[in-house]
Amino acid sequence: MKKIVLTSIIALATSTALMAGVNPSVCKGCHGHAWEKKALGRSDIVANMTHKEIARALIAYKTTTEADEMVMKTQVSRYSDADLKAFAQTIGK
Ligand code: HEC
Repeated sequence: MKKIVLTSIIALATSTALMAGVNPSVCKGCHGHAWEKKALGRSDIVANMTHKEIARALIAYKTTTEADEMVMKTQVSRYSDADLKAFAQTIGK
């Protein structure tokens, strides 16, 4: 019985994590709490970008081969295009 309860708790936790999509707390270390910083001193300020520009940038990073952009490729490669598009609607302007 104990085992069954534990298994369903784990299953619930896993599905919640999948539904949550992009986790912005990781991003904010570099981009600032309100997306107001130039990440590593060189990104554009994401707070000033439009939803569309952000979506385009995030999806493009998944397939980039530019050395400068590898830092962002690592961040976005685990997410689907749909997740990145949906997340882009929640930040920027
Ligand atoms: C280790 C620091 C770091 C982390 C963590 C990070 N970024 Fe970035 N981000 C950068 C850098 C550096 C750039 C500029 C890269 C380039 O294009 O040269 C950038 C660029 C961007 C851009 C495009 C801005 C531009 O310059 O065109 C967006 C949008 C963005 N990041 C969103 C995110 C999101 C969303 C996350 C979390 C999933 C994230 N970043 C996590 C460092 C980081």
